[in-house]
Amino acid sequence: MSDFEPKVIVFLCNWCSYAGADLAGVSRYQYPTNIRTVRVMCSTRVSPHIVLELLKDGADGVIVTGCHPGDCHYINGNYYTEKRMDLAQRLLKMTGMEPERLKLDWVSASEGEKFSHLIQEFVTKLKEIGPNPVSKDKKLVTRLEAAVDASKYFRLKVLTGKDINLTSKGNVYGETLKLESLDEIMAKATEDEYRNSLILQLTNHKAYSVKELATEIGEPTDKTLEHVVSLRAKNMLALDHIEGTTPKYKAITIGGA
Ligand code: FES
Repeated sequence: MSDFEPKVIVFLCNWCSYAGADLAGVSRYQYPTNIRTVRVMCSTRVSPHIVLELLKDGADGVIVTGCHPGDCHYINGNYYTEKRMDLAQRLLKMTGMEPERLKLDWVSASEGEKFSHLIQEFVTKLKEIGPNPVSKDKKLVTRLEAAVDASKYFRLKVLTGKDINLTSKGNVYGETLKLESLDEIMAKATEDEYRNSLILQLTNHKAYSVKELATEIGEPTDKTLEHVVSLRAKNMLALDHIEGTTPKYKAITIGGA
């Protein structure tokens, strides 16, 4: 049997889950010692890029815990946590890493037993999945770096941060969006930002043709060409040289490549 012991980072909301974890200890509920905890003032302080960076740096799993819906000390912070972790999971799927390595759950101050079960089940699941493969897979690291960059893009931050306004209160013209439409917009925006970020990561040190990029990304060449055109229009990608008749592109880095 494998002696793999997963490394797990657990974020605890100060107002509920932190006390829940404490209660688990005081009540002597048993759980594995694989976790390292981080106390935050609200679960919504945990941005998607923090979670993605932890996984890129080798954590085997990350758990984010917060107050139950309706109990957030800051009214609807945990509502946004759900949107943000959903974004992190979408991006994880795009990189090819198992989305199960990230878990969001609600644990109140009186739920010590629930906390201990949560940790036990998560560690058991990670033992089934196996160690984080980043140390053996350089391409995965590049994809995770792209996911980290994508999660910081303004468009995705706005979409995850304005959900309630867009779907219930409406924009400045009083127009509201259906939840399904917002979900579609979110899926498309996440994919676009991830692919753009991946192109920039790949072309950061080496020039690529559109065809080579399409192969690396795993999408049709015409789709990659659209991303290349959009990145060139934003002055983020430039023509590096022409090989035969094939143009090769490189990312524009601040201060020059
Ligand atoms: Fe606990 Fe916001 S205060 S999730």
